[in-house]
Amino acid sequence: MTDDNNILFGNGDELPSNRSANPHIQDVINLGRRKILAGGAALGALAFLGGVPALADQAKPAFKRRNRLPFDAVSINRADTVTVPAGYTATAFIPWGTPICGSYPGYLEDASNSAQDQAQQTGMHHDGMHFFPMDAKFRARKSDHGLLAVNHEYIDAPLLHRNGPTVVNGKRVNADEVRKEINAHGVSIVEVRRSVRGEWTMLPSARNRRITGATPMRIEGPARGHDLMKTRYSPSGTSTRGTLNNCSNGYTPWGTYLTCEENWAGYFASRDAELPRHLQRYGIRSASRYGWETIPGDEFQRFDATVSAEGPRADYRNEPNTFGWIVEIDPFDPDSTPVKHTALGRFAHEGLVFAPTRSGAPVVCYSGDDSQNEYIYKYVSRDKYRPQQSDSRLLDEGTLYVARFNPDGSGDWLPLDIEDAGFQQACIAAGVSFADQGDVLINTRLAADTVGATRMDRPEWGAVHPNTGDVYFTLTNNSARQEADAANPRAPNPYGHIIRWRELSSNHSGTQFQWDLYLLAGPQNDSRDPLGKPLSDENILASPDGLWFDDEGRLWIQTDMSGTQLEKGPFGNNQMLVSDPQTGETKRFLVGPVGAEVTGITATPDFRTLFVNIQHPGEGSSSTEYTSTWPDEGNRRPRSATVVISRNDGGRVL
Ligand code: FEO
Ligand code: CA
Ligand code: CA
Repeated sequence: MTDDNNILFGNGDELPSNRSANPHIQDVINLGRRKILAGGAALGALAFLGGVPALADQAKPAFKRRNRLPFDAVSINRADTVTVPAGYTATAFIPWGTPICGSYPGYLEDASNSAQDQAQQTGMHHDGMHFFPMDAKFRARKSDHGLLAVNHEYIDAPLLHRNGPTVVNGKRVNADEVRKEINAHGVSIVEVRRSVRGEWTMLPSARNRRITGATPMRIEGPARGHDLMKTRYSPSGTSTRGTLNNCSNGYTPWGTYLTCEENWAGYFASRDAELPRHLQRYGIRSASRYGWETIPGDEFQRFDATVSAEGPRADYRNEPNTFGWIVEIDPFDPDSTPVKHTALGRFAHEGLVFAPTRSGAPVVCYSGDDSQNEYIYKYVSRDKYRPQQSDSRLLDEGTLYVARFNPDGSGDWLPLDIEDAGFQQACIAAGVSFADQGDVLINTRLAADTVGATRMDRPEWGAVHPNTGDVYFTLTNNSARQEADAANPRAPNPYGHIIRWRELSSNHSGTQFQWDLYLLAGPQNDSRDPLGKPLSDENILASPDGLWFDDEGRLWIQTDMSGTQLEKGPFGNNQMLVSDPQTGETKRFLVGPVGAEVTGITATPDFRTLFVNIQHPGEGSSSTEYTSTWPDEGNRRPRSATVVISRNDGGRVL
């Protein structure tokens, strides 16, 4: 398959590129007494487990007092199936290759579908997703009919092509193969309906749509038209082609979908000896992950950021600057042009989660930069939210902040705003300068370095408690950790943890918060549950990633272990758990098939259907030997798919 070349075809986790001297999270968490969340009050008494402050109780319960989670925990296993508790059913739905639009080309089991076919079928590697009830723009209560928007994060090239990718002397040579790879990325939007018997079908619908790595997109916000956004494709710097590595997602209060560009840097290459900061700080290297830029033709050469012409309007030196954004898609308008919102910053966006919206208050949303030692960000719109009136313009004018977690349990949101005096002082002190706010946003990581943000252990998904407004974030792991400390008493830290904070301002728009650790993942002898006890057989986990609150304030946690942790660790296959912050109880609800990551979660408003994604089952398979055959079984290629989960009695999932 691959000759002597630099094309990796890997899973896309980027190499660390934060060389700032900012304190790491472990440096700022002290071993002494500190404030922790307890109904908003400081809690004095601390228990210690392995040097780590114990967690406080959840805020005053606002929901009906709950008892134990009403299902039997699923045991750890390595079965090549989706295991759910007794009384539930999990059914695969719209796997990779499902025809959804155009001429509805059928999936060919030998993977010989063309690039054009792939543009009319669901993409590979399902990730973040959202169910939009058909009345999403109004009441949003319709549960048996809606649009499902699904991200396709990346590709497994050996499985995407009949005989795997063709590479000759380190170069890609088959343009249709590469086009198929580009078309397997992006987003699928499908209209779906639930029958009275509870079975879901995809409808042939004019609303069904594929957005791919080649779909034209508009650029909005402060970096629109910036000199650093100008390319041969868009000399005005106002548009680009495609969205890539669409990991987690968000959705707006006005009924649109947000897809987040995570490990996009690896799709580009630059052979320039010295890279500008807007490429260097994002880890652009001399060879790309899939080698798309090694094929002639503008549609592929755009992935080559090497300076090759007189100016930026004549080459693609700036093409990588048009990636790393949050992209908004109106799922109800199949002709709409997706929009890249530059005000939300440029980094390896895992996802985007909104604080509860209130009429007359700004919209506030949070996003993590998933790379080792990167940061957590918050955006506050300039204008106020008005139901039925506000739209995507709220995401174009506002302030981007980055988080600093202080040792005493307090936290600060530091503005990355060229007009802010504190930001200006930090820039002078660091000897860093920005031409304008567009420059700040294109160089978001550098701006965050400059103000002294706290380096984190790979921020993944966030979730906001529907009642308390507390914000929870997964920090999946950090294999680069050298020294153990109070918050992460493991060196390196392969297991990850969940952090949470409470804004001191009631509408989430202020600059101060209090933070705490909710859970330390790991095996029984190296973990801590929300009550301060070690995790047990019912709930050991590692590498928490996906995170979501149901309407009643139960936290759903999905894992993304890989490598030897997945193959040989005590955790079995990747899994999904439910944790109730009100009681502290945490239980395993689902175990995925072999080699898969469990990611992406959304539900119908009546909560009788839960949608979850299974990504990259059979990771590591060749085109002929499969380590998993989920969901088709037999000796058929494994396929990423959505899983529909329901209770056998037709009631609410929980
Ligand atoms: Fe695409 Fe950070 O997971
Ligand atoms: Ca993820
Ligand atoms: Ca992950």
